[in-house]
Amino acid sequence: MINRRKFIRASAFTGFASLVGSKLKAAGEPVTVKGQPIVISTWKPNVKANKAAWEILGSGGRALDAVVQGVQVPEADPEDMSVGYGGLPDRDGKVTLDSCVMDEFGQCGSVMAIENIMHPVLVARLVMEKTPHVQLVGAGALQFALSQGFKEENLLTEQSEKAWREWLKKSKYDPMETLHEMDKLIQKQQVPYPWPVPDLNHDTIGMVAMDTNGNLGGACTTSGMAYKMHGRVGDSPIIGAGLFVDNEIGAASSTGVGEEVVKICGSHVVVEAMRHGMSPLEACKEAVRRIVKNNSKNAKDVQVAFLAVNKKGEHGGFSVAPGFNYCVTTKKGTIVIDTKSWFS
Ligand code: GLY
Repeated sequence: MINRRKFIRASAFTGFASLVGSKLKAAGEPVTVKGQPIVISTWKPNVKANKAAWEILGSGGRALDAVVQGVQVPEADPEDMSVGYGGLPDRDGKVTLDSCVMDEFGQCGSVMAIENIMHPVLVARLVMEKTPHVQLVGAGALQFALSQGFKEENLLTEQSEKAWREWLKKSKYDPMETLHEMDKLIQKQQVPYPWPVPDLNHDTIGMVAMDTNGNLGGACTTSGMAYKMHGRVGDSPIIGAGLFVDNEIGAASSTGVGEEVVKICGSHVVVEAMRHGMSPLEACKEAVRRIVKNNSKNAKDVQVAFLAVNKKGEHGGFSVAPGFNYCVTTKKGTIVIDTKSWFS
């Protein structure tokens, strides 16, 4: 049982902490803990994205600017068939993109199911900065992008169209099977292999960063699950699901089967778990635990992974199935970490 002296000490601390928190919130200022800059992103091929982000972070720039620059790398890469240009289309052959950003002030913006725009992350940022809204979808998102000077481009590459036409022969929506089929196609065509592990789903770049001022920012962008229904939106552009940033605590992002992440508000769960004292790795594992619990009969068929960074610059990741990895860039350089998973 807590004794009286301990109780008074605890109350005094809690009171002080909440006073500081409310003062900062009242002033509308982010909570800043100066630290070593760090950027992390989902999947090994995104070391290139980390490099682009580091150009900003390493020279003292803002976390939000860094992640927005970083995720544009796979968005513009036709060989990355899970994000932006070259992304695999939906079952109607349309490339539809989802993207969001969140900053140290708790501001955020997203676009969902936008077509023909190479860099949806830039549009998401403008939704945050220039509109009274958080989310714009489909034709409305495109209309807004065009009003801001973006140009429409065909994002369906020959390679992605070929894969889609192959898929049409069976027209069966099965994310895991699709990946197996993609493996075969990619190996036959001898194109660069975008998945680090042959039998698992790689989709989406989720990137979170802390800058030299100790401020956090994040971005998440994807072409979504290949051959989804037209109009389907996954976790990636949904604040709290595919991305969440709380400048007092940390930031998290997700990759994998978006429906499962949405059902548990995944990235928000991770940040809240860190708030309650878990390390980034433990917090990611807690979110995975909830997904496994929700899928008691078929959890092995559902790949989802999370990554997170906290205000101390500690980072971690965890996935349902094996094969997830993430890239970490600090002043010491870039490393790729193979994470642990719920199932082996
Ligand atoms: N995680 C990406 C998606 O489900 O669309």
